[in-house]
Amino acid sequence: MPLSLAQMRRNYTLYGLRDDCPQADPLVLFGQWLEQARKTELPPVEANCMALATVDSQGHAHCRMLLLKGFSAQGFFFFGHYQSAKGQELAGNPHAAMTFFWPGLERQVRVEGAVVKADAELSDDYFDARPVASQLGSWASPQSQPLVHRSELEGRLREVTERFAGRQPPRPEHWGGYCLQPRRIEFWQGRPDRLHDRLDYRLHDGVWQRTRLAP
Ligand SMILES: Cc1cc2nc3c(=O)[nH]c(=O)nc-3n(C[C@H](O)[C@H](O)[C@H](O)COP(=O)(O)O)c2cc1C
Repeated sequence: MPLSLAQMRRNYTLYGLRDDCPQADPLVLFGQWLEQARKTELPPVEANCMALATVDSQGHAHCRMLLLKGFSAQGFFFFGHYQSAKGQELAGNPHAAMTFFWPGLERQVRVEGAVVKADAELSDDYFDARPVASQLGSWASPQSQPLVHRSELEGRLREVTERFAGRQPPRPEHWGGYCLQPRRIEFWQGRPDRLHDRLDYRLHDGVWQRTRLAP
C-alpha cells in the first residue's frame, strides 16, 4: 500500500449537524445543502475520495463516500468499522463497486469486484500511523449505530481517552481494512459534445482485456 495515500488526511471543521436540527423533512435539508453547494466555491475534492456501493441481504443498494488509503496489484484498500452497515453488507455479499470523480480533470474511474478483509498486519500498520485522535475515535464510535445525542459520542470519547491515557491505543478488533479485488475497471474521460471516451478493462483468467465503450 503506497504510504502517500495512507497519509492523506484533512480535518473537517466547517459545519455540524446539531441535535436540534429544525428540518424534519430530509428533502428540505437536501435542498438547502444542494443550494449551498451550488453557491459555494467548493474546495478541491480530495483526490482519494470515492463512492462505495454495497448491497444488503434484501438486495437493496447502499452507497457512501470513503477514502482510498492505498492500492496495489492486490486491489484497492479502504478502512472502517467491521460492524458498520457497510461491514455487515460486505460480510453477507462481498460484491461492491467504487467510483472516483475528479471534476477538475473531467475524469471518472469505476472499479468493481469482490471485497475481502485486509490482513490484520496491514490494518495494524495503518491504524498505528493514524493520529491518536482518530485512533480514539475508532474506539469511541459504534459506526452506523443510533446515537440519542451527540453528547453520547463525546462521553464515549472521554471514556476511551481516560482508558488509553499515556499509552498508544491498540487497533480495536472491530476496525480495520478492506481490499476490493478488481475484476472490472472503467476509465471515463470527458470530451467535447458529449462524445466522451470510455475504456473498459475486464479481468479474464488473470489477464486484463480492454474494450472501448460508447459514451
Ligand atoms: C469525504 C468523506 C470521507 C469518508 N471516509 C470514510 C472512510 O475512509 N471510512 C469510513 O468508514 N467512513 C468514511 N466516511 C463516512 C462514510 O461515508 C459513512 O458515513 C460511514 O462509513 C458509515 O457508512 P455505513 O453506515 O454505510 O457503514 C467518509 C465520508 C466522507 C464524506
